[in-house]
Amino acid sequence: MLDLSTRYLGLTLKNPVVVASCGLTTGLQGVKNCAAAGAGAIVLKSLFEEQINADVSALTEAAGDFPHTEAIEYLEGYGHACGPQEYLELVRSAKQSVDIPIIASVNCITAERWADYAGQLETAGADALEINIGFLANTPALTSAEVETRYERILQTVKAQVKIPVALKVGPYFSSFGNLAKRLGKGPQAAGALVFFNRFYQLDVDVNRLQVVAGNPYSTQDEIHTSLRWILLLAGKLDCDLAATTGIHDGLDVAKQLLAGATVTQVCSTIYRNGFVQISNILTQLESWMKSHEFNNLDDFRGRLSQTDSKDPESYERLQYIKGLTGLE
Ligand SMILES: Cc1cc2nc3c(=O)[nH]c(=O)nc-3n(C[C@H](O)[C@H](O)[C@H](O)COP(=O)(O)O)c2cc1C
Repeated sequence: MLDLSTRYLGLTLKNPVVVASCGLTTGLQGVKNCAAAGAGAIVLKSLFEEQINADVSALTEAAGDFPHTEAIEYLEGYGHACGPQEYLELVRSAKQSVDIPIIASVNCITAERWADYAGQLETAGADALEINIGFLANTPALTSAEVETRYERILQTVKAQVKIPVALKVGPYFSSFGNLAKRLGKGPQAAGALVFFNRFYQLDVDVNRLQVVAGNPYSTQDEIHTSLRWILLLAGKLDCDLAATTGIHDGLDVAKQLLAGATVTQVCSTIYRNGFVQISNILTQLESWMKSHEFNNLDDFRGRLSQTDSKDPESYERLQYIKGLTGLE
């Protein structure tokens, strides 16, 4: 009998396929659809700090001139359609309607101004809170150290407000990501989970209309490698859970991330492309892969390919690099 269950953020999930925060989890119907298709947990669409502070106009202005329909949906969709009170209501109704964990999400650039709202999300019944730090370090005066300290400060300020676990969703653009991950994910002040990596909206240039436009909002399967690398390198070294996201499109991608050491995976683009049924397709493929390897549960193989579990951790990555470039085995 296969057992796909896992612990994540102190919660029991029936499987490791979590629906990532996105437009599909904006409303109750989407939440029900994800649950009916078999998701292990759901991260609700992010509410923006600006929305909590009732400064919604900032979002609209930031959207600028993006004529591409998908892009408009993406940018509009990136901010939650409802305000903070409706969001609390969504948390409450989602909790009443489905029997899987509901993780609320806030996209923020500071913690101070909205932190007490985190307590309201907890009271509304959120099982956990995911913070997506949408802070773009766009001035040369700002040092890397200042940016990283901001991440630590946001995490600690929010954690001080709630008892529910707090996950931090981060992007890959740091000069020494391993060091930052350690500061956020190790020790008594650690996040409950690190979620990597956030896929920031892409900018593109339309050479015919001579305009800056938004790039494709949806990932491709090829984009799995950045999170896969860091899960491989960090699994077993932090005190927090690791959620992998970006480029996970099928059951074998989930298997890869679990072999690397991920606690759970988060999926989004593949559901946009294939419909909610893709969640059950992913689970079926994962199960049949597990059967073919005679794995009964996730602990039978989780982290097996991580650097921590390798025979030669010292030269682990260098070895893959040399093999890749020389074709030598
Ligand atoms: C239309 C759309 C809206 C999104 N909105 C959010 C959001 O509100 N908060 C967030 O943390 N991530 C958001 N994301 C990012 C996803 O949660 C996910 O991390 C990203 O798409 C990478 O996963 P994927 O490769 O499975 O798509 C959004 C993605 C898309 C495509």
